[in-house]
Amino acid sequence: MSLSLRRKLRCAMVGGGRDAFIGRVHRHAMALDGRIELVAGALSSQPEKARASGRDLGLRDERNHGSWQALLAHELLLPADQRIDFVVIVTPNDVHYEVAKAFADAGVHVVCDKPLVHTSEQAAELAQIVERRGTVFGVTYNYSGYPMVREAREMVRAGVIGEVRKVVVEYHQGWLATQPAGNKQAEWRADPARSGAAGAIADIGSHAENLVATVTGLRIESLCADLHAFVPGRRLDDDASLLLRFHGGARGVLIASQIAAGCENDLRLRVFGSLGTLDWRQETPDRLVHARIDGPRQILTRGSPWLSEAAQRACRTPAGHPEAFIEAFANVYRGVCADIHARLAGSRADPIEADYPRIEDGARGVRFIEKAVQSAASAHKWTAFLD
Ligand SMILES: NC(=O)c1ccc[n+]([C@@H]2O[C@H](COP(=O)([O-])OP(=O)(O)OC[C@H]3O[C@@H](n4cnc5c(N)ncnc54)[C@H](O)[C@@H]3O)[C@@H](O)[C@H]2O)c1
Repeated sequence: MSLSLRRKLRCAMVGGGRDAFIGRVHRHAMALDGRIELVAGALSSQPEKARASGRDLGLRDERNHGSWQALLAHELLLPADQRIDFVVIVTPNDVHYEVAKAFADAGVHVVCDKPLVHTSEQAAELAQIVERRGTVFGVTYNYSGYPMVREAREMVRAGVIGEVRKVVVEYHQGWLATQPAGNKQAEWRADPARSGAAGAIADIGSHAENLVATVTGLRIESLCADLHAFVPGRRLDDDASLLLRFHGGARGVLIASQIAAGCENDLRLRVFGSLGTLDWRQETPDRLVHARIDGPRQILTRGSPWLSEAAQRACRTPAGHPEAFIEAFANVYRGVCADIHARLAGSRADPIEADYPRIEDGARGVRFIEKAVQSAASAHKWTAFLD
């Protein structure tokens, strides 16, 4: 069935109220393909602010709630043809688990931002619920949605750079080089009760881990982590340097730093193979550099007809009209929608369309964070990942 014949999917949002950061990005991304309608919400931890935020977005009063518990209870009373298809969780990290668990257990599909939850036990429990209920569960590792990241993945899979020997992934931000006063995003990220047991390695290191896994398919066998907090009084790491060993013998370096003064979102992945190297940077996301051992260097650009089908289908505009963060985010939503539509139709989703990070990716990210923290605290350092 063509998508044009299908109805829009109905969704609710938890978090993402006035002054929140990523909830707005999710709403922009959801709007891009016209396949999703935001019909309900519990948009803030403060009930009045939640309702005011919902009014801003035009939510009807009866579906504009002061708490996620009220939202879920109300949805479960609605007939199936009005009820939400999925919920989006864009709260600080400490709230993800209870909301995701409650909605997934009620049979509602879920999109949750990263890091998925605080502990691997929580992640394993969520994965069991998702398996038992047969629900779709997307995790917004949004960098996996960039067309040129998908192109890099397809090139690695096709053996274009030969055997992968080494991976270097770096994510440098500078916005936490000080503790900015009155910045609520900075406040909760520095609070172990809300952020979890790790700082930069969780907040952006988990994106880096996912990017490596997405592009190379390699799984970490063991890691050695040095985590440090530079800003006085900060209780969680703001700088992380890791050595990685992968199953099969490849080696890697992962850097995640939020004290790289002056840097913005400088995420870079380099994959060194026996025949060549791939080099992608998030701040110039439409370009992928392919350096060969036996020929001239090529700069591949998004939207070109010679890219893989996976990369081409992730594009919305022709080459030279830049796409970026919101479009990549929208590709995660496109994948989730394809999977939900297929389930509604009792069919299997097209795998190129249903290309999105799932609960297993989120759970692996949580284990990665735990192992990095464990390694940093140990004298031995090298720590088995046992993925
Ligand atoms: N994928 C990405 O690129 C990306 C980028 C930034 C943040 N994130 C993740 O998104 C999440 C939110 O981050 P942010 O920077 O937008 O935070 P934020 O502080 O800007 O927004 C959090 C929102 O959640 C609301 N909230 C808190 N508790 C709630 C509850 N119990 N019920 C309903 N709403 C509640 C807050 O009121 C606020 O509106 C975090 O998990 C973060 O790691 C992901």
